[in-house]
Amino acid sequence: MDNGLITIAAPMILVHSLFLVTNPITKEVLDCLTNCSDIIRWSATIIRLNNDLGTSSDEMKRGDVPKSIQCYMNEKGGSEEDARKHINFMIKETWKLINSTTQRDNSLFSETFIGCAVNSARASHSIYQHGDGHGIQNSHIKNRIFQLFFDPITISIP
Ligand SMILES: *[C@@H]1O[C@H](CO)[C@@H](O)[C@H](O)[C@H]1NC(C)=O
Ligand SMILES: *[C@@H]1O[C@H](CO)[C@@H](O)[C@H](O)[C@H]1NC(C)=O
Repeated sequence: MDNGLITIAAPMILVHSLFLVTNPITKEVLDCLTNCSDIIRWSATIIRLNNDLGTSSDEMKRGDVPKSIQCYMNEKGGSEEDARKHINFMIKETWKLINSTTQRDNSLFSETFIGCAVNSARASHSIYQHGDGHGIQNSHIKNRIFQLFFDPITISIP
C-alpha cells in the first residue's frame, strides 16, 4: 500500500492543488504535508484501490506487476472474487475515515483543499466504474467524457 499510494500519483496531484487553492501558503500548512496529511493518504488509498479494481485485469494480461487484488490472493490464498470483495471493504473503511475527518479535521488544510482531496476520491469511483476510464477508448467511456464536458445540464427553475 505504501508503494501503491505513491505510484497512483494522487499525492503529487494533491500537493499541486494545495498550491492552487491556498493563499497565502504558510510554513505551518506546508508542514502539514509531512506531519498531518491523513486526508491525502486516504484520498490516495481510494484512488489506488478503485484503479486496481478497474484496470488490473487488463494490466495483468499485458504482463504488468501484481496489484492489490493479486497481492491479496497471494497472501490469503483466496479467489479473485474474495480479493475484490476485500478491496471494496477497504475502500468503504477508508471512506469512513474521510467522512469523520471532514467533520472534525485538525490539520491546517482549508476546507477547499480538503474538498479537492475528497472530490478526487469521489471522481475515481466514476473514472474506474466500467474499467480503465482513460486507458480504454470504447464508446461507453467516450460518451461519459463527452457528457461531462460538452453536454449542457438542463436545470429547470420552478
Ligand atoms: C507539524 O509540524 C510543525 C513543525 O514542523 C508544527 O509546527 C505543527 O504544529 C505540526 N502540526 C501538527 C498538526 O502536528
Ligand atoms: C460518507 O459520506 C457520504 C455523504 O457525504 C455518504 O454518502 C457515504 O455513504 C459515507 N460513507 C461511509 C462509508 O460512511
